[in-house]
Amino acid sequence: MLFPETMKNPHFFLLFIFVGMFLLTYTSCVHEPILPTGFPIDTTGNPPDTTQIDTTKKDTTTSSIKLCDPDSVYFEKDVLPILISNCAKSGCHDEITRQEGFSLTSYENVMNSGEVDPFDLDGSDLYEVITETRADKIMPPPPNSALDQSEIDIIAKWISQGAQDLSCTEDTTGGCDTVDVSFSGTVFPILDTYCTGCHSGNDPSGGVNLSNYEGVKLATDNGRLYGAVAHLPGYSKMPQGGTKLPDCDIAQIKSWIDNGLKDN
Ligand code: HEC
Repeated sequence: MLFPETMKNPHFFLLFIFVGMFLLTYTSCVHEPILPTGFPIDTTGNPPDTTQIDTTKKDTTTSSIKLCDPDSVYFEKDVLPILISNCAKSGCHDEITRQEGFSLTSYENVMNSGEVDPFDLDGSDLYEVITETRADKIMPPPPNSALDQSEIDIIAKWISQGAQDLSCTEDTTGGCDTVDVSFSGTVFPILDTYCTGCHSGNDPSGGVNLSNYEGVKLATDNGRLYGAVAHLPGYSKMPQGGTKLPDCDIAQIKSWIDNGLKDN
């Protein structure tokens, strides 16, 4: 028989293996969506689920570890807090008001708004309005302050990377540091990311101003600040309309409060 004879030749044998591997690889990849080059490819084989968004719980299990990559933009972690704090205020693009007919409170809502064109910055109205210079066109409208450059950069990068709903797990192998917590180094950056869009300026939401130490200190009266971020019964759940803060952030805020609200 031809087959066993040729297989005795090591060259034919190797060729046979290579062809076999090529066919296997080719047929198993053929259904994969083609992504533009330079795009971070999900090597876990689990494409991000864009059909159903569960904003009620975060994946904190360590079994499906996909550590955050500093070059990728993660919607819930990086983009949503900016939108919630600056655009989804009540009276604007929140679930109730739906100014201009859309809300910006979840991935699904943002994509359904028609304001985002994946990979195409110029075609994305969302990007256009946040970078607008004319006072009657810019979003958020005055007297709200414009997004700062780092926030605009995150949104631009997210759209350029395909406006995906990627998620990741923070590297907590070093644990959550609740000992070395300072106001300026830890607490304020958290509040600035998630809260100051609503809680700053001349007319901060609920009369609570979180844009400086004095205001934050006042907000801790009667356990309000911690109650709000930890979603304790009897307190308004904050960030309003958004996802609960990561557990580590909440623990760090608590540690700072328990240690006497130092202005450090
Ligand atoms: C989208 C806007 C928005 C964001 C973002 C937001 N808040 Fe609020 N917050 C409000 C509004 C509106 C009120 C007043 C109505 C209420 O209490 O629900 C309020 C009230 C509060 C109160 C008073 C609650 C009470 O029980 O008296 C605290 C404290 C507070 N927010 C903290 C925070 C913190 C901390 C964050 C960030 C982690 C945050 N908020 C993010 C809109 C927001």
